[in-house]
Amino acid sequence: MADFEIKDLRASVEGRQILKGVSLAISKGEVHAVMGPNGSGKSTLSHTLMGHPGYTVDGGSVIFKGQNVLELEPDERARLGMFLAFQYPVVVPGISMTNFLRTALNSKRGYDGKDKSKQISPKEFRSMLKDELEVLHMDDSFLPRYINDGFSGGEKKRAEILQMAMLRPEIAILDETDSGLDIDSIKFVADAVNRMRGPD
Ligand SMILES: Nc1ncnc2c1ncn2[C@@H]1O[C@H](COP(=O)(O)OP(=O)(O)OP(=O)(O)O)[C@@H](O)[C@H]1O
Ligand SMILES: [Mg+2]
Repeated sequence: MADFEIKDLRASVEGRQILKGVSLAISKGEVHAVMGPNGSGKSTLSHTLMGHPGYTVDGGSVIFKGQNVLELEPDERARLGMFLAFQYPVVVPGISMTNFLRTALNSKRGYDGKDKSKQISPKEFRSMLKDELEVLHMDDSFLPRYINDGFSGGEKKRAEILQMAMLRPEIAILDETDSGLDIDSIKFVADAVNRMRGPD
């Protein structure tokens, strides 16, 4: 059995069925490209896999680490190791990139505000962030800014990949991360994505 297995997934949005039996088996270290014309349901598949509340699952299963992830909340899916880079990243006013990244990382490490041993140290966090910003050719002026607030289209896409690089998911779903990027940015994003690839 594959490590991540989508079987006969059916899902609808606003009462209209979009996914009509999608099956895909993915094993560790593999990269799969899902292609289809505009409106064919690629983003619907991404959102459904991650548990977006606007999409209704009508049937099928998605098995990862022995669990049907369709039964889990989005945050539980993230903690299990799933990540989605949005096609259209949303602005989150009031939350800075740094705060968001630190909180997300700590949450993934199981830090609930009590057991300080699970918390990432400021030094480790800064050094990790510095490395990943370098790969993406982003400067640290992004860090105090609110998430995606005033970011250009290409900057938003790079910010998504920065989140992926920091969170080190086991499976990353990248919804048209390359669209809207200039030639240099495509290379930087590809470098960051390839750094994540490995046998595990
Ligand atoms: N909230 C919604 N209400 C109604 N229809 C929706 C909604 N969200 C998605 N759809 C419809 O679902 C279909 C699939 O859309 P989806 O965004 O998944 O396509 P896509 O393959 O990602 O397209 P693109 O290449 O343009 O990104 C489209 O016909 C779209 O209009
Ligand atoms: Mg789409």
